Amino acid sequence: MDYNQETVSTFDRNAAIYADKYFDLSQYDSHYDAFLDALPEGEVRLLDLACGPGNVAAYLKARRSDALIVAADRSDAMLEQAKARVPGIEVRNIDCRDVSALGITFHGVAFFFGLSYFNPDDANAVLNQIHRVLAPDGVLLLASVAGEPSDSGEQTTKNGDRVFSFYRRPAEINSMLVAAGFSIIGTSTVDSPANASFASTDVITLARKSG
Ligand SMILES: C[S@@+](CC[C@H](N)C(=O)[O-])C[C@H]1O[C@@H](n2cnc3c(N)ncnc32)[C@H](O)[C@@H]1O
Repeated sequence: MDYNQETVSTFDRNAAIYADKYFDLSQYDSHYDAFLDALPEGEVRLLDLACGPGNVAAYLKARRSDALIVAADRSDAMLEQAKARVPGIEVRNIDCRDVSALGITFHGVAFFFGLSYFNPDDANAVLNQIHRVLAPDGVLLLASVAGEPSDSGEQTTKNGDRVFSFYRRPAEINSMLVAAGFSIIGTSTVDSPANASFASTDVITLARKSG
């Protein structure tokens, strides 16, 4: 079985719990604002990739009600949460490793807390796919759990649900972005939310398609 399938099944079974826990967090708002400010003038198409219950899409829609906003995830239950919680967006079931299957070019992509579920080859493939669906000068806001690569592997919750996580240091995440054809606008490290199941230091990077 694809190692990512069990991770997605875990998110799918726990979508409502995840949504109640994380949907209303405001600690990333300043990063969302920086992303919105970096977009080109005029009509924009935005993608919330690995959207979960649509936390990011909700903020973007509230500030840019004119934008086409697509929220995409591989979990149907997460997409149901996003659809119910964020009126006016499009939801699509896709695998991050195949984003170009959407057939849409975006001015901005927010990829929040999805990268760590991909092994090295797939993580690079996802970043290349994001690059491919961005318009020239398009903007990427990436948030990812960071950590020591040696801690990568399965994590089991108290219910016995498993996810497979791949940890990377912030510098490696940014090197991967540069290798995929992005130039870094700004990057910072932040603590995981106080209510997170596992405490971590996370990296948030704003980047622009350059190649
Ligand atoms: C930690 S949640 C992040 C949700 C939301 N972006 C946030 O910041 O709260 C990770 C999400 O990635 C999704 N995911 C995992 N693997 C995926 C894949 N291959 N393609 C699309 N989504 C995937 C899961 O279903 C889950 O909704």
